[in-house]
Amino acid sequence: MPSRKTRPHAASKPVEPSPGPPGAPGAVGAARPNVAQAGKPVLPSGPRVAAVILAAGKGVRLKSSRAKVLHEVAGRPVLDYVLDAVEQAGITDVYVVIGHEAETVKGRFSTRPVKWIPQPEQRGTADAVRCCEPALGTWPGEMIVLVGDDPLIRPETIQALLAAHRAEKATVTVVTGVVENASGYGRVVRDRKGHVEAIVEERDADAATKKIREINSGIYAFNARACFAHLRRVKPSASNGEYYLTEVVRLALAAKQRVVAYEAPDAAEVLGINTCADLAQAGRIIRQRIMDRHLANGVIVVDPASTYIEDGVIIGPETVILPYSVIHRGASIGSHCEVGPFAHLRNGARLSDHAEIGNFVEVKNTDVGSHTKAKHLTYLGDAVIGRNVNIGAGTITANYDGKRKNRTVIEDEASTGSGTVLVAPVKMGRGSSTGAGAIVTRGHDVAPGDTVVGVPARSMRGKGG
Ligand code: UD1
Ligand code: MG
Repeated sequence: MPSRKTRPHAASKPVEPSPGPPGAPGAVGAARPNVAQAGKPVLPSGPRVAAVILAAGKGVRLKSSRAKVLHEVAGRPVLDYVLDAVEQAGITDVYVVIGHEAETVKGRFSTRPVKWIPQPEQRGTADAVRCCEPALGTWPGEMIVLVGDDPLIRPETIQALLAAHRAEKATVTVVTGVVENASGYGRVVRDRKGHVEAIVEERDADAATKKIREINSGIYAFNARACFAHLRRVKPSASNGEYYLTEVVRLALAAKQRVVAYEAPDAAEVLGINTCADLAQAGRIIRQRIMDRHLANGVIVVDPASTYIEDGVIIGPETVILPYSVIHRGASIGSHCEVGPFAHLRNGARLSDHAEIGNFVEVKNTDVGSHTKAKHLTYLGDAVIGRNVNIGAGTITANYDGKRKNRTVIEDEASTGSGTVLVAPVKMGRGSSTGAGAIVTRGHDVAPGDTVVGVPARSMRGKGG
């Protein structure tokens, strides 16, 4: 394989690095989970650019009946990340090719301003792009094609791809990456001068080609019209009958058109999700990016390696996250809080400043007031908990009556004894308390300042208590 030096067309750095939008990964604060709407995208000036995302495949290698792009990493579907990257790169004309589970995919992304292109039969990546011809066949500018199974691609890289494509006046620019383990990917074959000579799929590669570690990311910039002209001439592959998009590279080269490789600055960006192992690896990388943002924002994560934080979690500075905590998308944590060890914060867990959630405590759809503590063995679900509340060990909000979820309200300064069960809907008034093992039954609200004990819990008032 040629060395890096012998790759005249492998811009290893963006040609004209556009500043990433403020909402781009790396720059975005964790306090802005809705990164898709953040910041003003910056795209190199020039003709309008369309993006085509290929998302019709089933994902046979995942051994799942679910569409591949709906599998989740760090709490969000794979395709969500690709759509974000395209949007943050500043591309507004977005076409998504769908086929397998098309209606479910569309439904899942119904709020996205994209055009859906059906691919009736999944006959390969070239066929998928060809399905866009009625919509984009006369598109005057460039078309960026992305695979829907690469959630790691960064908006800056899409912008740099376009800049490289324009600077090189190329017909095709392919994003490549040099990876440790290239198996499963198309290999980028270069000639002695470093020019792209071919892209060879693994199944069609000989032993020498398989040794190449520079892979095709599946992400390209095309001159749209030239691409469709070539696509009409793509024949099915001899090895599996699929129409390969990589054939466009061969046809462009045969037509003496310029084909350029743009090497992604970070090889992690070209990971395609084909297997469950890929899914797990993408999750690790994305969670590391998320973790880096929280650390940069002043969150004290004592052991990042044992802490699981999904995308879209808000955490204030000076909050300490202790090991083995799991924090899902949709949780938000104020500043100066303490979480963990072994805490589980689910969607809608909202901790105000200085709240403390300790070991084996699960919080879901619950407001936890400032300086409130729930330190041991507790479930808090569908509750509103005020300030300075002490939740005793083993307290449970019994929120589900078999039909619906009911609310528990615990007002400021209240406290629960160990092993209290609060059967919702129920309310504990300000400054009230329960004794150890109390079961407060539904609708039997505890009056402000009162103490209730026993099963079912009764007031201590009038009993010398
Ligand atoms: C493809 C590339 C390979 C590259 C790799 C990068 C081809 C022939 N191969 O291989 O060179 O290294 O991506 O990850 O292009 N899809 C459709 N319709 C289809 C087939 C696929 O929409 O008929 C979509 C899939 O949903 C997926 C994407 O295209 O999101 C790529 O398809 P996949 O089967 O994953 O291709 P790879 O084998 O990974
Ligand atoms: Mg793939």
